[in-house]
Parts: sequence; C-alpha cells; structure tokens
Amino acid sequence: MAAPGENLRINGDRLWDSLMDMAKIGPGVAGGNNRQTLTDADGEGRALFQKWCEAAGCTMGLDQMGNMFARREGTDPDALPVYVGSHLDTQPTGGKYDGVLGVLGGLEVIRSLNDLDIKTKHPIVVTNWTNEEGTRYAPAMLASGVFAGIHTQDWAYDRVDAEGKKFGAELERIGWKGDEEVGARKMHAFFELHIEQGPILEAEGKDIGVVTHGQGLSWTQITITGKDAHTGSTPMPMRRNAGLGMARILEKVDEIAWSHKPHAVGAAGHIDVYPNSRNVIPGKVVFTVDFRSPDLSVIEDMEKRLKVEAQKICDDMELGVEFEKVGGFDPVEFDATCVSAIRNAAERLGYSHRDIISGAGHDACWINQVAPTAMVMCPCVDGLSHNEAEEISKDWAAAGADVLFHAVLETAEIVE
Ligand code: GLV
Ligand code: MN
Ligand code: MN
Repeated sequence: MAAPGENLRINGDRLWDSLMDMAKIGPGVAGGNNRQTLTDADGEGRALFQKWCEAAGCTMGLDQMGNMFARREGTDPDALPVYVGSHLDTQPTGGKYDGVLGVLGGLEVIRSLNDLDIKTKHPIVVTNWTNEEGTRYAPAMLASGVFAGIHTQDWAYDRVDAEGKKFGAELERIGWKGDEEVGARKMHAFFELHIEQGPILEAEGKDIGVVTHGQGLSWTQITITGKDAHTGSTPMPMRRNAGLGMARILEKVDEIAWSHKPHAVGAAGHIDVYPNSRNVIPGKVVFTVDFRSPDLSVIEDMEKRLKVEAQKICDDMELGVEFEKVGGFDPVEFDATCVSAIRNAAERLGYSHRDIISGAGHDACWINQVAPTAMVMCPCVDGLSHNEAEEISKDWAAAGADVLFHAVLETAEIVE
C-alpha cells in the first residue's frame, strides 16, 4: 500500500475555528469550559458536532449510551471502519482542548478528505464518547467502558451524580439516548488525538508524542464516619472528627505515592465534608483517592497500603471507615501496528516526535481491549490541564491533526 504523500495536510485554521466555536458552549468562569456530561450544555455541544458532521456528508449513529458515530463511507462495503475520536464533555473547570481536540481533529480529517477528494477503502467514523471525565458520574471513561464490555449498561445507567440524578435518566432528559446496541460495532482500528496534559513534549521541544502505553489508575472512595458536634463547646478528647481522620489519611496518600517515585502519583480531588458548616465538627467525609502508575504491581501495593493505613488511623481515632473501588484500569500497551502508523506519520510529515506514556486515562485505554488502538499527543502549555487556563497553539493542534490524518489514511487505505 502506498504511503500518503507528505504534501497532504489538514486545514489548521478551520480546526482552530471549530475548537473556538465549540468552546463557546458551556463556558467556564475563567476562559475555559464547564460542559459536564449530560448537562444541557453537553446536549448543545453534541448538536453542533452533529450539524458539522452532516454538513461534511456524514451520517450520524447514536447508541444507547449516547456515544456518537459520524460515518464517512469507504469504497469497500465489507471493510471495517477506521474509528477516530475522543470526548466533548469537560471537567467543571476544564480547558477547551481536553477531549475536544480529538473529536474535532477527527472531523477535520473528514473535512480534509472531502477537500482533497480522497476516497478510502475503509469507512471512517468520528466518535464522541459519553462521560469520559467521570466528574459527574464515576468512573471516568464510562461509555467507552460499556462499549468495550468492561461495565454493564444497567450498571452505568444506575450511576448517580451528587444530586442523586441517575445517568440513564439524564441521558434521556437531554435527548441523546440512541437505539443502537452498545459495543455491537466492530473496528478495523481506533486512533485518539489528545493534548499531552503533562510537561514533557513542550519541555523537549517536540511536536508530537507517539503514545506507546497508558499508565494504570485506581480510584478508591473512602467514607469516614465520626460524629457531628459543636466546634466550640465539644472538649478535644470527646471529638470524633471525620475531617481530621481524612487529613491524616491524605498525608499517607502523598507518602505512599512518593515512596514509588518517580512514576507513581496520588491525590484526592473529590472531597465531600458533611455537614460542611463552619461550626460543626464533620461527622462524615467522603473522598476519592486517585493512584496511578505505569506498573500494575505498584498500583496494587498503593491500594493495599492505603487500606491498612486508613484503617489504622480510623481505629485509633474511633472513626468508622469504608472503602469502595469506584474506578480503575490496568496499565495499557497500545497496538504495535497502530503505534507505528502514528510514528511513520510524524516522520513522513517532518514533525519532531518522541515515544511517550499517557499519564491520563483515555477512551482509547478501553477501546484498546476490543480493537487495535493507538494515540497521538500534542504539547500543551506548561503541561497544564483540568484547568480553565489549559492552552495549546494553533500549530500544535494542526501538527497533531496532520499526524492523525496520515495515520488514518495509511490504515483506511487511499483508493487511487
Ligand atoms: C481522565 O481525564 C483522567 O485521566 O482522569
Ligand atoms: Mn480527555
Ligand atoms: Mn480530562
């Protein structure tokens, strides 16, 4: 099969304009986005994406988890499609590019194929996976997880948000629950373009990260039970302070992660304190410890030590403690052929590149279990992400989408 000519490029200006137009939906408070999954803003973002896809001549499929599939036909009716995509949902204080670049970069691939009048043997499908972020509904990558057979659909529908609203009901409410059976689609390959969300590419002056692996993740939700009591009049020895128990556990989380340096990380980003009143000693806290490492045995060790240390702290303080695993996946090794397609594309286009391990979770991590999968990354300023100030340059976005374009062209096979 002939390699695509190095002159073939996507339209970087158009991609940038689309990123900026999508960012107008669900604006944040500091220049980024708050377009959390299954909110009205999520529905609006989906509608805009669908409009753009239809204008580019695609047909839209929608499955029962709300995953969207915009398809451009190939010439061979028997050839499985090459999938690209990521997610349009954001963190509550999210950036404009996390996930969005992968979806709109996929759309840009199709728009560029149309401009250049290129036909491919395999169809190409651009996907928007529902609830990648896992903010409103744990775990992250929920709908790609159902697609890959990791979770059942019923279990996913029963996830509740902080207000007690169920995933299934909210998906129906925003009008994006489709009829299609989840996971019935078969893929020739899947490619996800994403910002790095870390500092390596920018620091080394590289245009492109060829993602060979993804680090694994473990989310343990901990509930500590003490006793609500007056902060002023309760003597120190009589206090059963769930907040203090959590504080002591969080010190251990940090220590445990540091003990596996340099590659392990740990923190709690989700903390609910009850009743959350200035003059009540908290009688209950619920928080989630997020541990990650590229090495499964390290993740297992961190999980085990967390439970031992937390139990000991709570026993000593006469606090109740319960643990629930609310998310996790093992470290991922991406498909060698797909990884080569990304590396070849960067090489052919003259972009500087290096192999890289993804620090974040991605839909590609689940899809890798059901289809040959790989990811391409572009740098982001100061490695900052999950922050409204997340930033990339137009050139970085275009380089990432060019590499995605060529990897897709090579895999979907240009028809001469
Ligand atoms: C997803 O954004 C994750 O890495 O938590
Ligand atoms: Mn993402
Ligand atoms: Mn994210």
